[in-house]
Amino acid sequence: MSDTGSAARFDGRVAVVTGGASGIGEACARLLAARGARVVVADRNRDAADRVAAELGGHAFNVDVRDADAITAFAAQVEADVGPVAALVTSAGIVQAPLPPEELPLALYDDVVAINLRGTYLTLVAFAKGMLRRRAGAMVTISSVTAERSVPLHAYAPTKAAVSNLTMGLAGEWGRSGIRVNSVEPGYTLTPALQHQIDLGHREPALLEANSTLGRMVLPQDVANAVAFLLSDEAAAITGVNLPVDAGFFCAGSWAPYGGVRPARG
Ligand SMILES: NC(=O)c1ccc[n+]([C@@H]2O[C@H](COP(=O)([O-])OP(=O)(O)OC[C@H]3O[C@@H](n4cnc5c(N)ncnc54)[C@H](O)[C@@H]3O)[C@@H](O)[C@H]2O)c1
Repeated sequence: MSDTGSAARFDGRVAVVTGGASGIGEACARLLAARGARVVVADRNRDAADRVAAELGGHAFNVDVRDADAITAFAAQVEADVGPVAALVTSAGIVQAPLPPEELPLALYDDVVAINLRGTYLTLVAFAKGMLRRRAGAMVTISSVTAERSVPLHAYAPTKAAVSNLTMGLAGEWGRSGIRVNSVEPGYTLTPALQHQIDLGHREPALLEANSTLGRMVLPQDVANAVAFLLSDEAAAITGVNLPVDAGFFCAGSWAPYGGVRPARG
């Protein structure tokens, strides 16, 4: 990924990205590596994690965030083998089809909760241990705009509301110990996961673009830029914040009764 050179650097710092083998997590791993971080790509997709980490000169770990023991062991191994973790991004997550609740399989509901919420919690707590000892660290969770709105995603959206709330809670928990915890709430972001939903007919690109003030979808790099800022020393006084990166999805919604946002002019 190209970089301006004037952006905040992470030279020599260890940055861990869960879900780092694809989409938003991969974009974060690439940007942090481009800015000098020693990146750890953690994912349940072993081959993809190996490929991304090799390209970045980083480390790959095959881990499933649903597994509490594996996450604890993973955090200890990174601290021992790679070094003290300065930055953590929790991007491992899954999406769902927009099904009525009476048609939503309970197994899918349980998996969404186990990965998106419980997995995020387990990862934050596991990596906090080293950061608490050093009284330093920055964490960014990947929530979603759906955390804040009524949408037909009755497992996914509540997990993201919980992630945004957890982010605020843990910021309060660990702030005096030198750890900052923030979230990014991406809008519809063109990743392999969203493309898959589009291919299945579960999301319509024209509607996603129309329901944004900027008239476009979010790109993984847009999210990575915000994540890197929140992890950097430039955000040293920012914690407990849930930052939308949504191409204006929130703004556009309240213009719908007026016929939508104003078209381009000039
Ligand atoms: N794409 C969007 O529109 C969008 C919008 C808002 C939020 N998000 C969130 O961003 C995050 C990343 O999504 P994405 O669109 O980049 O998806 P993606 O499928 O492209 O990437 C997700 C990665 O997480 C990994 N993963 C999934 N379950 C895992 C597990 N149990 N343990 C370890 N790794 C696991 C996958 O293997 C994959 O590499 C998710 O939390 C998602 O909810 C995405």
